[in-house]
Amino acid sequence: MSQTILIETNEDLKKIFALNLNTFVATEVILRQSAEDTIALLRILPQIQLIITKARVGQEDTAVKIHHYLKNEAMETSLIVLGECPELANQVLCLQEPVSWEILIKQAASQLGVTVQDAIQKNKPDYLPVGLYYFYDIQKVPCDVFIRIKKGPAEYQFIKRLNSKDTFDRPAIQKYEEQGLKEFYIPKDYIQYFTTFVTNSLVSKLEREDLTLEDRILTTAHGHEIVRDSINKMGLEESSLQLSDASVASMIKSIKDSPQVAGLIKFLFSNKVAYAYQHCHLLALMGHYILSKQSWYKVEHLQILSFVSFFSDVTLKNHQQMQISSMQDLAESNLTDAERNAVMTHARDAAAIIDGHPQVDDYIRTVLLQSHGKLDGVGFEDDPSEEIHPIAKVFIISDCFVKILLNPALPSTKKEILPILYSRFSKPSYQKIIKTLEQKFQ
Ligand SMILES: [Fe+2]
Repeated sequence: MSQTILIETNEDLKKIFALNLNTFVATEVILRQSAEDTIALLRILPQIQLIITKARVGQEDTAVKIHHYLKNEAMETSLIVLGECPELANQVLCLQEPVSWEILIKQAASQLGVTVQDAIQKNKPDYLPVGLYYFYDIQKVPCDVFIRIKKGPAEYQFIKRLNSKDTFDRPAIQKYEEQGLKEFYIPKDYIQYFTTFVTNSLVSKLEREDLTLEDRILTTAHGHEIVRDSINKMGLEESSLQLSDASVASMIKSIKDSPQVAGLIKFLFSNKVAYAYQHCHLLALMGHYILSKQSWYKVEHLQILSFVSFFSDVTLKNHQQMQISSMQDLAESNLTDAERNAVMTHARDAAAIIDGHPQVDDYIRTVLLQSHGKLDGVGFEDDPSEEIHPIAKVFIISDCFVKILLNPALPSTKKEILPILYSRFSKPSYQKIIKTLEQKFQ
């Protein structure tokens, strides 16, 4: 799949362009905000084939700067400019605003050498896939639900499996899972309706006071998975905002009500909670313990830590990406270039995604950006500096501890894990945090 950088300041257009470029031109869209971060990415990924950028972002002559860089480096990356740009008018394709997505994909396809007409005909999906986890906490569906059967090499048939009036329970869904089914399909006109229905059901469930701890953790894990999925498909929309708020609140509640860590870890493992949520929950749990022992601790620090933990890996698609904890892990991994790049910039990307969330303030932004010890949210620092925000330091130590604990190939007892942390994090304040963590297990 080709890769395209997109710089668009209007949030709605950004979503529409990214989704349609991906669907109809089959290109992976990487979002960037300025000429500077685009050029930084081009240095690591020179194979990017296309850049679509606003002529100007704020005061910056974004298109001119990028064009200048491409020329100086003699790069063959194509450029499409959104909006008037007299300086480049004779050299690159400048589309007059407002730009419709249909025009944009047509031009992008031609720059990438893809025939979009065919792609549109072939790819226009009538049904959209949704993971089975969307169905775990609901007992009925608001529309008909289908499964997809392969008929030929590129031909599928959709068969109705659940009627809009049917009721079902979790074991019924688990039966599908046991048979190897991963996704149901929803008619595309109903997808928004369906997502809102599931989100509302989950939010009401998470807000109930009578959930058992186990049910609360499982339901929060499903909320986490749905938020991650819908952010990656549609960006941060109202329904994922509501669901993320309810999920973070529920996670904080279960952390405050937690039994012994050992029991909880056993539970998290035994119930097939997705890795992403195991990591998120344990990180918040460990971090909360450390924070609660600091002289400067305030209740809102748990909120910040939990929120960041919930969103920190939101752009990562798989378990292997989420396990990475250092530049060395990254170098030794079997990830593709695109997956590797996503890991490199995931803290910065997550910070950009949640920027539109009303709860996000400078604290959250800083802790998230610094969640791997780098000030700019790019890459991993082996031995982070004292300059890092105190809550981010707690996050970094908790993250590293949990990643080792959850990795079957690495040590799994605190006796073995703590020395690894002591030797990696040399600065005094980090050593103090590890000491605090050590006390948790005494
Ligand atoms: Fe991360």
